[in-house]
Amino acid sequence: MPAIAILGGQWGDEGKGKVVDYLAQRAHTVARFGGGSNAGHTVINQYGEFRMHLVPSGVFYPHVTCLIGNGVVVDPKVLLEEIDLLRGRGVDTSRLFLSDRAHLVMPYHVLLDGLEEEARGAGALGTTRRGIGPSYVDKAARLGIRAGELLDREPFRKRLAFVLEQKNALLTRVYGREPLSLEGVFNEYCAYGERLRPFIRDTGLLLEAALERGEWVVLEGAQGALLDLDFGTYPYVTSSSPTIGGALTGLGVSSRRLEQVLGVFKAYSTRVGEGPLPTEMEKEMGQRVRERGHEYGATTGRPRRCGWFDGVAARYASRLNGFTGLAITRLDVLDELPALKLCGAYKVGHETLEHFPASLPLLERCQPVYEELPGWQAPLRNIRRFEDLPPRARAYIKKIEEITSCPVVLVSVGPQREETILPRPLF
Ligand code: IMP
Repeated sequence: MPAIAILGGQWGDEGKGKVVDYLAQRAHTVARFGGGSNAGHTVINQYGEFRMHLVPSGVFYPHVTCLIGNGVVVDPKVLLEEIDLLRGRGVDTSRLFLSDRAHLVMPYHVLLDGLEEEARGAGALGTTRRGIGPSYVDKAARLGIRAGELLDREPFRKRLAFVLEQKNALLTRVYGREPLSLEGVFNEYCAYGERLRPFIRDTGLLLEAALERGEWVVLEGAQGALLDLDFGTYPYVTSSSPTIGGALTGLGVSSRRLEQVLGVFKAYSTRVGEGPLPTEMEKEMGQRVRERGHEYGATTGRPRRCGWFDGVAARYASRLNGFTGLAITRLDVLDELPALKLCGAYKVGHETLEHFPASLPLLERCQPVYEELPGWQAPLRNIRRFEDLPPRARAYIKKIEEITSCPVVLVSVGPQREETILPRPLF
């Protein structure tokens, strides 16, 4: 039976956490497939407000099993802190499992993330400095350490000794820093391993069993299509694949299991960190949307850059992922604006571009071609039915459908679970 993927269609922070939380009411398993503690999903429910970095957003439901898949890079310290916080607030974490194949973020990854950013100077990428890039680098270089390895002390020590020698050479000879102590890192990570032992499993088997039982499985994305290592605004990207391929590889699930691929988009655009944002708003408007939408990074607290809805980027994300439907979040943030712009194409000189270009210099020269729609200037937060939305808000949603050729199946008008509108049946 079916899996439904929830993927970010923009530069991350689209509100996937809320959409997953909403869908988890009907699901039995929620499985995170990529990224690491660079992600920050805000979920608001009966337990309070949570900023989750690693634990899937389904953890608040007693009937949901949560999996952290092999494609996630896990900082065990952050994961354990999150588990402790959840438990402390009365949330049951006994149905949470971590893939034995998930790579770990090690202390040298966090150090190197910061040092590499400093070395880039003016060309810094604006990473979250959580060690994500260096951890994926080691995975590809066959120098990574996986969660399952923590459970077998001696082989773990041997591999760590080999890897740490190389990392210490880098830290001391290239960056002039102090080396890390093998004993220190080994003991720290063995202790994490002991605490994580009950959670570590072959999550691929758990996922397969759930699908075989005919249960709904939600594949929970992190980041967004425009941050994808292959398809994003390289090099201003993250080091994983937040698009559909990453969802399958990051969990070890077949594409034949997928029934729906839901693209999550804000009703406007935001980006945190460096790199192009073609529809970036002028300063005053950007500030207005940022304040009204509380657009500050959930992980780093950095102010997010705000832009109008970018239809060229959205079409691109939709094509890459094969979205079967869109979830439009934060429509209420636009409530007060007298006029709204949507970008349907880019212009470079006299040429019109309808496809998202690979070349960064070209993208930086792109001028958005906007269509302007009147704002609805009315509060949306209490509305629960699509037909009750002001006609101008419906027209805005229709325009997004037209630009992307994709139906909107969910509209979010506030952070709470119930502040959700389903224009058409989702299940
Ligand atoms: P990294 O993933 O920490 O290496 O950061 C690379 C880029 O991705 C930076 O611009 C980050 O701000 C951005 N990024 C990473 N994770 C997220 C996220 O969850 N939301 C938004 N931006 C993110």
